[in-house]
Amino acid sequence: MTITDTNYLQQVAQLGDMQSVTCTENILTSEGVKLLPKGARINRDVIDRLLHHKLLKPIDFTTHIENAVDHDTLIGIGCELMARTSETGTLLRILRNEGFVEQSCQRIHLELPIQNKLTVAYNLRPELLEHSLRVSLAITLIGEELKLPEKELEVLATAGLLHDIGELHLGVGDLPLEQNLDLEHWQQVRSHPIVGATILNQFKAYTPQVARAVQEHHERLDGSGYPQGLKAIRLSRAGRLLSFTEMAIGALRKYSLRQLLTIIKSNPHAFDSKPVSVFLDALHRFENSGSLKAAEVRTKDLTALFELISKMILTAEAIAKDRTDQQQDSEPCLIDSAVVKYNQGLRRAGLDIKDVSGSLANIGDDQ
Ligand SMILES: [Fe+2]
Ligand SMILES: [Fe+2]
Repeated sequence: MTITDTNYLQQVAQLGDMQSVTCTENILTSEGVKLLPKGARINRDVIDRLLHHKLLKPIDFTTHIENAVDHDTLIGIGCELMARTSETGTLLRILRNEGFVEQSCQRIHLELPIQNKLTVAYNLRPELLEHSLRVSLAITLIGEELKLPEKELEVLATAGLLHDIGELHLGVGDLPLEQNLDLEHWQQVRSHPIVGATILNQFKAYTPQVARAVQEHHERLDGSGYPQGLKAIRLSRAGRLLSFTEMAIGALRKYSLRQLLTIIKSNPHAFDSKPVSVFLDALHRFENSGSLKAAEVRTKDLTALFELISKMILTAEAIAKDRTDQQQDSEPCLIDSAVVKYNQGLRRAGLDIKDVSGSLANIGDDQ
């Protein structure tokens, strides 16, 4: 398959306007004509030169992008995702501890040209990189629950992160909702798994299992998926796991865990039963611990907030007390009336700023 680079080149040039993107060697046309010398900056000033010729090598093989995405970047984004109160973040947090993100990200194989692509995504399509990392973390978790060998976990973590890398080469930007696609958009959407697999096949370091899983990530076991409409028997294990995980993580952007469960149940033959059962088990654990965790979070948040408010009011009262009667008459202070108002509000809620521990015990009782 030939990959159309126009859209991707434009994104690289756009990034080049924001930060340093330089040629690591002369950039040549397929006929050997030099377009840019080694060391030249790539930005929108030179984009026309690149767009009007077929390049000898893909742009990622001949450029250096400053501050490229690496394992540390991914770990940072992953920890942030896990800390969020989104459905995925909460689910991950309940099932795994903080070390999981680091261990899972370290399993992802990164080649320099691929790091360039991830850096373009990080800066220009951050939602795409976040989605990809969510899928990577979730599929690794499923693989761990299924007790798959370490080599296979590396395939899953890598394919999970890179499954939508072909999207960077589409001409449509962010994918619109599938039901609203016209024919041109649909053809591009349909091609992105193949574009992704073609890119990965350029590297010996990415095993065929990774590229195959990427190509299969929108296939469905009943043959209703794309790009090829392959049925279960023709799909790889990593592809089947990725297909379910990608659907689940994508759906959780719009739906709750409960609604996702309905989607799964109404498509009983579309997804592999193994990741589905891991998910259902995770959901069960989530629901059993959910109310407890929510209560813990609420109590912690309320406690911190009340301590802060108490300190603020006591400090404000102390400042007001220090002012002389004469000062109070000549400089009416807004803070005085605010202190009285907030203090009354807290008392009505059964909270006494002079008895923090007693009030906190009340908060605990209410939970
Ligand atoms: Fe995706
Ligand atoms: Fe996709």
